[in-house]
Amino acid sequence: MSKPSDSKNDAPPEADTLAFFQDLEPPANDFLQDALSGLSAAPKTMSPKYFYDQKGSQLFDAICDTQEYYVTRTEIDLLQNLIPILNKLAGPGADIVEYGSGASVKVRTLLEGLDNVSSYLAIDISRAHLINACRVLADDYPEIAIGAICADFTAPITLPAISREKGRVVGFLPGSTIGNFAPKDAKEFLARASKMLGEGGALLMGVDLKKDPDILNAAYNDAQGVTAAFNLNLLTRMRGELGAKLNQDNFRHRAFYNGEQGRIEMHLESKTEQTVQLDGKEFSFSAGETIHTENSYKYGLEEFAALAESAGFRAKHAWTDPKGLFSLHWLEVHTQ
Ligand code: SAH
Ligand code: AVI
Repeated sequence: MSKPSDSKNDAPPEADTLAFFQDLEPPANDFLQDALSGLSAAPKTMSPKYFYDQKGSQLFDAICDTQEYYVTRTEIDLLQNLIPILNKLAGPGADIVEYGSGASVKVRTLLEGLDNVSSYLAIDISRAHLINACRVLADDYPEIAIGAICADFTAPITLPAISREKGRVVGFLPGSTIGNFAPKDAKEFLARASKMLGEGGALLMGVDLKKDPDILNAAYNDAQGVTAAFNLNLLTRMRGELGAKLNQDNFRHRAFYNGEQGRIEMHLESKTEQTVQLDGKEFSFSAGETIHTENSYKYGLEEFAALAESAGFRAKHAWTDPKGLFSLHWLEVHTQ
């Protein structure tokens, strides 16, 4: 990792217990520009990164607790069962970097189970949620240097040197967040991550597997309506932050497995013919027309390993839970 430029200099008071904080939060105008171009496109679309303000992050955490969303509990069980193996692979004094860290719950298994973790750096776009999660970690693990970067992880990020030892740099990308990229963008992301992690670096990834569409459809249409609220929160953000004139009750959550593409698609579907106003412009919707808000690609084990290899990693190990719902991959940076 390279040296931090001004380390904690831009840390807000609420982040001053962290070993490092860097604020690269995307400017508010990006949201407006992306919303204008997304609503002008055919079909209409928005990036899933805009789900995650503080409310959206809380709703995502609530999704993880639903009965239908098997992803979180399955992955935590897998991580716990694999700790002895992961410990051998990571070695002592690791520097862990998590992309899209959210509530930083899963990483606790690594912080507790790997020998003498040296540092943990959390990267997330959802600023307040990121700071809160890292402050709690800093209290719980005073012997580990805990840092945070608020940033869009699709842009290049220089990793700071916050560690005290010379352990292995281990990237962590759980939750199948990689599935929210189209495969060609996933490859680009992985290629950038391999450069960021550098020679000797490794990446531990959670990747959701292709499976019975009924299980997938239920996971993205939970009975309590938490996923629906998460999807609709995008409209709340557009109203609150961008001043969009729209009636949220005129949209409904829609999620389904597209078997041809191997992905769950989430949409906001217009219940009626209507007009949305944004930044002085009008966007008309016919009844049934949607804003495509998220893809969540599902992979086969070998299919994903091949993608990782094409992006500059050696796919060294892959494991699944006994029901074959979810996978973990251990990738190592491949240098010529
Ligand atoms: N790692 C956690 C959270 C996954 S949810 C887990 O496995 O449970 C996805 C996380 O990625 C959210 O916290 C969201 O805020 C973050 N995220 C989504 N798009 C992002 C982007 N473009 N840049 C940085 N963070 C992003
Ligand atoms: C963060 N990401 C991997 C989740 C997923 O499963 O695609 C987001 C999510 N969307 C609906 N439910 C959960």
